[in-house]
Formats: sequence, C-alpha cells, structure tokens
Amino acid sequence: MDYLVNLSLVKPVPELDARMERAGVTIRRALAPEFELVTGWVREKFGSGWASEMAVSFARQPPACFLATRTQKLIGFACHESIARGFFGPTGVDEAARGEGIGHALLLASLLDLKVMGYGYAIIGDVGPSAFYERTVGATPIPNSKPGVYAGLLNSAD
Ligand SMILES: CC(C)(COP(=O)(O)OP(=O)(O)OC[C@H]1O[C@@H](n2cnc3c(N)ncnc32)[C@H](O)[C@@H]1OP(=O)(O)O)[C@@H](O)C(=O)NCCC(=O)NCCS
Repeated sequence: MDYLVNLSLVKPVPELDARMERAGVTIRRALAPEFELVTGWVREKFGSGWASEMAVSFARQPPACFLATRTQKLIGFACHESIARGFFGPTGVDEAARGEGIGHALLLASLLDLKVMGYGYAIIGDVGPSAFYERTVGATPIPNSKPGVYAGLLNSAD
C-alpha cells in the first residue's frame, strides 16, 4: 500500500539535528563522485532493485538522495523522485546503526527537499514499516493505492 505525507506539516526538527550531531552523524546530499561507492553499498545491503532506484535518484541534478555518514563511512541513505515524481524511497540504515533517529533524519531531509521542489504532498510507495512513517511524519495510507507503481515489477527470482 502507498502512504501520503502532507508536506505543509513537515518542518525541520532541531532536536533531531542536535541528536545527529551528538551521535557524530552527518546527513547530507549525495555527491556525484560517490555514485559507485553508494550504489555498491546499497546493492550489498539491500539488493539490486534498491541500488537501481538509488541510481535514478543519483542521476538527477542535484542528486535526489541523501546520505548518513559517521567517521567518513556510509551508514544510511534515502532517495526521492526515483520510481515516480513526488515519491519518497527507498531508504535504509545499516542494521548496526538503527534506532538512533538516523532513518527519521534522512526521511526529513528528502521530504523537505520535495517540499522545496514545490510538492504539497509526498507519496511513499509500497510501504514496508508503516509504523515508522506514521510515527515520524504522520503518514496515512492512501485508499485504493494497490496495485501501485511497482505492479508487475520483474524480479530476478521469477
Ligand atoms: C526503516 C528504517 C530506515 C528506520 O531507520 P532507523 O534509523 O532505525 O529509524 P529511527 O531510529 O529514525 O526511528 C524513528 C522512529 O521510528 C520508529 N521505528 C523505526 N523503525 C521502525 C519499524 N520498522 N517499525 C516501527 N517503528 C519503527 C522508532 O522506534 C522511532 O520511534 P521513536 O522516535 O518513538 O523512538 C530502518 O529500520 C531500515 O533500514 N529498515 C530496513 C529497510 C526498510 O524497511 N526501509 C523502508 C522501505 S519503505
């Protein structure tokens, strides 16, 4: 199912920024020279489908993806404008770094970017952890959103 986020209600969260700083985590837009490193990391941790989506968001100018880094190492990513315009995702945080607010900080970075681009709402396609999106940004399920943009996706296992 797809979820909807009202971008009028999405604002920077200074406490979360401070939490990232205390944890030594930097959230920033991806840079073109990082393309191979980042897509390789996403493929290894989350599979080739997400790496392909990351590649599409990376090819936008400026790249429509944000990274989380700590001690110069990649620990998380978030993309938007990949599967379709106005869509958020995919996103992922290294298993060892989950539960520190990093996923929330990445999500906000992408959503605020979509807001600056002029969207009023963002769509999260084919949501997995719905409670994460409900809790962090008040996302709500979109009625009748199945099948969505991922319908009929070719799968290497098929
Ligand atoms: C989903 C994911 C990105 C969250 O990253 P994270 O850094 O662990 O999340 P945060 O620490 O920012 O969590 C923010 C809040 O959401 C909650 N939360 C995080 N993951 C959750 C989940 N899977 N289900 C329900 N709640 C979740 C946290 O408890 C926290 O709540 P709190 O603020 O009340 O303490 C991460 O678990 C992940 O990489 N999962 C695998 C990939 C995935 O499913 N991506 C989403 C594709 S749609």
